[in-house]
Amino acid sequence: GAAELGPYRHYMQKEIFEQPRAIGDTLEGVKTIMPELFGDKAFPIFKQIDSVLILACGTSYYAGLTAKYWIESVAKVPVNVEIASEYRYRDSVPNPNALVVTISQSGETADTLAALKHARAQGMLHTLTVCNVATSAMVRECEMAFITRAGVEVGVASTKAFSTQLVALFLLTLTLAQVKGRLSEEQEAEYLKQMRHLPVAIASALALEPQIIAWADDFARKENALFLGRGMHYPIALEGALKLKEISYIHAEAYPAGELKHGPLALVTEEMPVVTIAPNDALLEKLKSNMQEVRARGGQLYVFADADSRITSSEGVHVIRLPEHYGLLSPILHVIPLQLLAYHTALARGTDVDKPRNLAKSVTVE
Ligand code: G6P
Repeated sequence: GAAELGPYRHYMQKEIFEQPRAIGDTLEGVKTIMPELFGDKAFPIFKQIDSVLILACGTSYYAGLTAKYWIESVAKVPVNVEIASEYRYRDSVPNPNALVVTISQSGETADTLAALKHARAQGMLHTLTVCNVATSAMVRECEMAFITRAGVEVGVASTKAFSTQLVALFLLTLTLAQVKGRLSEEQEAEYLKQMRHLPVAIASALALEPQIIAWADDFARKENALFLGRGMHYPIALEGALKLKEISYIHAEAYPAGELKHGPLALVTEEMPVVTIAPNDALLEKLKSNMQEVRARGGQLYVFADADSRITSSEGVHVIRLPEHYGLLSPILHVIPLQLLAYHTALARGTDVDKPRNLAKSVTVE
């Protein structure tokens, strides 16, 4: 009811603004990196496994895709990420030494539960879930669990569940790296410091709301949008496009920016807004040339840069700058303005933000 919403118009907006608290709670009690964060059985299992298989649906799947970049780069453990509804029905090659990780806000998604059972039936017995509901079927079914502390999420479009999943998956990355002997004490201390700074950093990203509202007025008049990211920000581009489709009903697609020339560039005209996630990382210069390809076709660029990216506003290039450079945690920060952009675009179009047509919060039947 209205009392619970406080100053917010929708649950989705409230949940977006709850993220500093949700992440702070998820990190509560995390004093050091240790396998016990994932339960008493974790150490021998993490020691033994030689790869990770992530199974999930929807937004949770995009959290899994982000984790692949982190785990492979920091822990050097190979990761496969599969859409649960595909994995459960295809012939795959089981690896009994893989750690199976399901990601689910609700812990009740039928396809993800079935994918877990399918993995187990094929002899993959090491199972961990990252889940927001401690009493769910998923937590009961898995050998190990990390419970995110987002709290009850009401909006159908997932927001705080996603960012807390990312926090849990970054902790998993560091823990695997430690067990595999690839995390020094200095690195551990530095990453923990960066994680503890997240609530403050997210609050400063939320403060960009007025600038995003101005962009949302442009987006509300469009029927298509393209989202570009590279590397670990590609899954964030996917998530930004998903949020926009789900609640504003604008057709949106996400591409890794290097793929532009292999198809989507044909769609770019003056009518096509192109959202670009452009933090300062090793791929920034490549991304800038992708942006020029868009500008050359008259496409309007809406760029999320960070404190260190050298990109400035110009004709057809609109820039919102996040206040810091966040390194490996950058995906968690960059998703915040994308959530706000989808929310304010939907608001401007007058759609039912918390209950978008044809969608359910938790899909418990196939
Ligand atoms: C539904 C929801 C999405 C969610 C997906 C997976 O489609 O609308 O927001 O990402 O299910 O749900 P889960 O609870 O397994 O994360």
